Amino acid sequence: MLKDKRIVLGITGGIAAYKSAELTREFIKKEAAVRVVMTKNAAEFITPLTLQTLCGHPVFTDLYAPLTDFDMAHISLAEYADVIVIAPATANIIGKIAAGMADDILTTTVLATKAPVLICPAMNVNMYDNAIVKENISRLTARGYLLMEPGYGELACKTEGYGRLPEIPDIVEEVESILTPKDLQGETILVTAGPTREPFDPVRYITNYSSGKMGYALAIVAKRRGAKVTLISGPTALPAPRDIKFVAVASAVDMRDAVMEHYRHCTIIIKAAAVADFKCSTENCNKIKKKGDDTVMILELTRNPDIIGELGMIKEHRILVGFAAETENILENASEKLKNKNLDLIVANDVGKSGIGFGSDNNEVIIVETSGRAKHVPIMAKEEIAYIILDSVRKIMKKRKRVKEDWY
Ligand code: PMT
Repeated sequence: MLKDKRIVLGITGGIAAYKSAELTREFIKKEAAVRVVMTKNAAEFITPLTLQTLCGHPVFTDLYAPLTDFDMAHISLAEYADVIVIAPATANIIGKIAAGMADDILTTTVLATKAPVLICPAMNVNMYDNAIVKENISRLTARGYLLMEPGYGELACKTEGYGRLPEIPDIVEEVESILTPKDLQGETILVTAGPTREPFDPVRYITNYSSGKMGYALAIVAKRRGAKVTLISGPTALPAPRDIKFVAVASAVDMRDAVMEHYRHCTIIIKAAAVADFKCSTENCNKIKKKGDDTVMILELTRNPDIIGELGMIKEHRILVGFAAETENILENASEKLKNKNLDLIVANDVGKSGIGFGSDNNEVIIVETSGRAKHVPIMAKEEIAYIILDSVRKIMKKRKRVKEDWY
């Protein structure tokens, strides 16, 4: 999470400089502390005043300008930064950094820092294709600088190709990832998310209100923490997260098949999906028509496979985490599921309460361990809940490691 993280945003002179205002806003929304450094060329495209207003601090544009709260700007900024992000990065700044040049406030700061530097190129497609630019990029990556691939599409110069500034949410996510300790490195995690759809004719189905937000948050946070993640998702309105293996499914039977295909290579399985317990007994090939004066229609339902129950029987060494969507006797019902389905952890939520659970950005949960210990996590963003759930998973991993160490 970016709260209180110190981001130095370097802006260089390209048309995409206007997007740096949006990027600053996103960082500020996430409660990061943002300091902006602009090259003289950047100030031709967007005014320092815009960025100053958005980040709440004076903008650094001149190596020699007298300063208020930073002594020797380039050195102080270099030491201050948890991360330096250059967005947009022109061919010029890429070339200068690759050559070790330091002739303005941005290049001197970059040369003097020990913080990670993320470079987000944006330029004309032919410039990006130019062998010298490519060579400079390779040189920078070999030196440990982090580079994002530019996006594909129509460019300001009316050509089409690679050269667009990466999308703002993608840059923000990359920074989140860079600043998150990799304490799940080496783990392979399978997450299920979203609802399932159980069709009863070609145009209608039974489903539930799951938006996928809880499961996607878990997948994204696990990826940030260094895990290799597969996300099996029912239909949602959310975009497939970057750098995560994404498997789209529709029905509970599809989800079961996908889980069985992917679980073997995983060390941890987290079942956040709201799987329909029942499917329609018959799926009509044609749209069901109203008949005469019928006011009632009866649908016959059949039990769906209990995916987590099946996993509980075959999981071996894997850590299996379930969710319990309850409206009453939350702790009792969740504890029963934990035991009956041979889970290692269960996350219970009250889906009858408004503002949490289905569809909401927030959740409030009780995390129940096999020892019977139950931890209440008050209402907070699903992303924050995801961090806490994964901390509980790590606790199990550590305990198992300790037990193993005691054996040998
Ligand atoms: O998607 P969101 O809008 O963010 O909402 C999040 C959520 C409310 C869906 C999530 O927090 C949650 O509670 N997910 C589990 C919902 C559910 O199906 O709960 P359950 O108590 O019915 O099932 C218990 C466990 O069995 C769950 O891990 C479920 O994935 C699994 N299950 C259920 C039925 C079935 N046939 N197979 C299963 O594997």
